Order: sequence, then structure tokens, then C-alpha cells
Amino acid sequence: MIPPPIHRGMKILQRELFRIKVELVGVRIAANSTAKFLKVLKDDLFHQPKMKNVANDPESKDTRIILLKSEVQSLEQTNKQNSKLKEFIELKSSINQFGFSRYTVFQKPISQEAISFHVINPTIEQIDDANISQESRDLISHEALGFVKHTVELDYGNWGADDILKAILPEDSEVPSSFTQIGHIAHMNLRDEFLPWKKIIGQVILDKNPKIKTVVNKTDIIDTTFRFFSMEILAGIDNMIAEVKEGNCRFRLDFSQVYWNSRLHSEHERLVNLFKKGDHICDVFAGIGPFAVPAAKKGCIVYANDLNPISYKYLQENGVLNKVQSRIFSYNMDGRDFIRKIVKDLHATLAIAATTTTSAAISKSITGSTFKTQRFQMFDHFVMNLPATAIEFLDAFKGLYHEMESVIDSPLTELPMIHCHCFSKIHFVRSVAPNKDMYCVSFRLNASVAFGAVPSKPEISVSLGLTEQADNDHEEARERKKRKVEVNSADDDHNNGTNEIEEKY
Ligand SMILES: C[S@@+](CC[C@H](N)C(=O)[O-])C[C@H]1O[C@@H](n2cnc3c(N)ncnc32)[C@H](O)[C@@H]1O
Repeated sequence: MIPPPIHRGMKILQRELFRIKVELVGVRIAANSTAKFLKVLKDDLFHQPKMKNVANDPESKDTRIILLKSEVQSLEQTNKQNSKLKEFIELKSSINQFGFSRYTVFQKPISQEAISFHVINPTIEQIDDANISQESRDLISHEALGFVKHTVELDYGNWGADDILKAILPEDSEVPSSFTQIGHIAHMNLRDEFLPWKKIIGQVILDKNPKIKTVVNKTDIIDTTFRFFSMEILAGIDNMIAEVKEGNCRFRLDFSQVYWNSRLHSEHERLVNLFKKGDHICDVFAGIGPFAVPAAKKGCIVYANDLNPISYKYLQENGVLNKVQSRIFSYNMDGRDFIRKIVKDLHATLAIAATTTTSAAISKSITGSTFKTQRFQMFDHFVMNLPATAIEFLDAFKGLYHEMESVIDSPLTELPMIHCHCFSKIHFVRSVAPNKDMYCVSFRLNASVAFGAVPSKPEISVSLGLTEQADNDHEEARERKKRKVEVNSADDDHNNGTNEIEEKY
């Protein structure tokens, strides 16, 4: 490939400066042997994005010009005589005289019209055969009709983002062309050294990725509660409302105001796979609904909460977007208060549903089956994905079912599973950044914690009552780490490891 012209120091993109003319060596061939030449010469052909390597011959419609890679020097520059080529030219002259050829392409007597394109007076005498394979040279020597010079014009459109940025940014710098894609938004995390070029980088990314309409760069400021970064628009339209797909669900979100990380898709899927149709799920830090919406789609009844009012708004909107709003009950409050409130709310909802015929019908439509009205309804799963601090919210489970032991139809009713994401080593989920791993501890709520007394004020340190599963998860995590396998890889992301993004949680 011909690299673009170097324009180091360019700060405002001037696309016209990438327009160049390049003279290539072309091989003139009979049109009907094009496929054969392309096959044999495959490693010696001119290759440039959006450029053809076979040109029509202005001299004849029966011939074509196959363009050789730019490394093949102009034949005029060499003065070695290629005897095979000379012989070939002489033979071509004899064809001209006698009207037939011993070459495959011209085995039939040649018409006057065909003969006209044999009279080739090559402008180029010889190719620098050091640059092309023996097989290519043999075919050219035996079957080509000569060489021509062919000028191609290249411009900004003929190179990818990497090539253009390489030509602009300081020599030997690692080109920052990687980004995370969130719908139409490309999210970059530029290192300080590239900030003087941030606008031009954004523009090139925008130009070279047709699905991208907005390019943003993460700034250092993170909203510590709602876990989203502030960001700066580098190029494109000022529209941060994106639509993304995850599994069989669609999500709308304002990327500048809510938490979203498409690299968590496998973790969302992993937990939802644990849920069964009809399960009652409580998503304490639901964000815009990547656990809640697919769970509802599966037929679960979901109580989902987020403290960020904008996340709450999109959580509701995404329920509607995926036609599962009747199975998602959304809340906008602090997670600790939510855990306590929600247990009562679920019970109250079901009690009302059981006492009125209309509500009974509603309950049927919600779950797809009639509730066992006399039984206390327990949540089956609590999801707590706020890795930085979720563990600190576990005290909310202390006494959550205080004095309800007799109501709860034990041992038939199981206490809920709690899936608590954290940065302490339990179940290895994925590497967030070098030296920063995320884990998920899954355990069943311990009866002594659930039925015990409610503490008078929140306790930070909580005995988790970890079960065998957590231990197994821990083992598994260690094994996975040993094998250096990333459990939830981010293979759908348009991101790569070149500029690691320390992720937001
Ligand atoms: C790491 S995000 C996870 C969101 C979502 N579950 C996901 O997987 O994408 C954590 C969420 O918790 C919310 N949050 C933070 N503090 C909270 C609190 N005290 N109570 C409830 N939600 C909170 C944030 O707004 C954010 O949406």
C-alpha cells in the first residue's frame, strides 16, 4: 500500500493535502486472461483501499492494464535487458506479421481488429524483477503484451484512520484510533500527549467510521455517585442520546448522564441466565435496565431501582421500548432504602392482587400464572451491581424478614440469592484495567441475618454468610486467572487494548 503523504503538526484537518499522484508500472494483457493474471500476480498487485488494480486500456477494449505494486520500480530506471521480454516483444511482432500466435490467448488466427492491440511499443523496457515473484515474472514474460506507465490519483478517501493519523501525529507514536462504540457515539480515552491533536483525531475517526456521528473524549472528572464520566465532544453532532442493542433488547440512554458499559454484556447475560420465568428479581442499582429488561423479557417480575433520576427515566423508557413495562416496577431512591421498601411493596402488591378479581387478572397477566396468594412471596434474586460500594449496602438485609419467619413457608420457601458485584476477589468477572478486576459474589441470604433484629443504624461491616457457591466461584476465578482467560470479554466492542480505558463503576 502507498502510505499517505506526511503532514506532521497538522492541527486542522486539510483533506486536500492528502491528494497525490503516483506513477505505477502496469502490465498490458489480453482482457480474457485477466483472471489468470490476477491469480498468479496476487502478491505483486497494487493494493489500495477503494482503488482498482485492473484498468481499462485506452488503446483497446480487448486489453487491460494490470497495475503492479508501487515497489516495482519504473522500468525506465533499470538498464538491464530482459532477454525473455525481448523475445516476447519479437514474438509479438511476428504475430503481427503472420496473424497467429503460439500463445494460449491467441491460438486462433487473429482478426485484424485483435492484431491492432498487439502492436505494442512498450514505453517501459524492463521490470525490476527483484520485487516480484518468479511465478509472476514467468507469466508476464510469456503472456503479457508489454508494460505501460499508469498514473493513479490518491486522496484522503484512500486511507484508513490509522494511516492518516500516522501521517499527522508525531513519528513513532502509538496511533490512538481505538474507541468504544455506544450506538452512534465513539468514546475515546486519549492520553495527554495526544490532546493537542484531539479535534483532528476526532474528525478522522468520524470521517472513517460511517456509523459514527459523534466522537467524544473522556475527561478526568467522574460523577462518583452515578458513575458516568464528563466528556468533551471532539467531532460530529452534539447528540448524546444513543440507542444500543444488547442480546435481544434495545436500550436508549443519555451517555453523558447515565452509566453504560457494553463490556458488561456477558455479565448481564450470565445473571439473567440464572433467573427462571416467573422469578421475582430485585435490581438494586439497575442503571438503565441491562439486567432488568432482559429478565422481564424472560418472564420475570422485576423491581428495579436507580438513584440517578436520568437512569430511572431511561429504565422506564427501556421497559416500554422492549414492551415489558408491565413486568418492571421502577424506583428512584437510595439502594439501602429500596431494599427495605421493596420487600414490603412486593408483599403489598400481591396481597392486593389476591383480594380483588381485577387485580387477580392483572397478576395473572404479570406472571403468566396465578399467584399462590396465601404464601409470602420472596424475591428469588437480588442484583447489586455497584462494585465500588455495593458490599456496604448488605447491612440492609439484616432483619429484612424480621419476625416473618412464621409467615414464610419455610423450608419450602428459599431465601433469596444475592449477587453482589465488588472489587474483592470472589467470582472473577473480567479485567477492568490492568490490576483492576471485577468480581461477583453470589450467596443465599442467611436465615439468621434475614430473620434477625433490624440494626438501629446502618452497619458497614456485614457478615455475608458465604455459601459453598461463593467458595466455588472463588476457586473458579483463581483457575480462570491462572489460565489468563477473561471471563466476560468485550469482543463486540469497537475497543482494543491500545489505549486501556480505566472503566467507570
Ligand atoms: C455500575 S452502575 C450499574 C448499572 C447497571 N446495573 C449495569 O449493569 O449497567 C451502578 C448504578 O448504581 C446507581 N447508584 C449509585 N449509587 C446508588 C445508590 N446509593 N442507590 C441506588 N443506585 C445507586 C448509579 O446511578 C448507577 O446507575
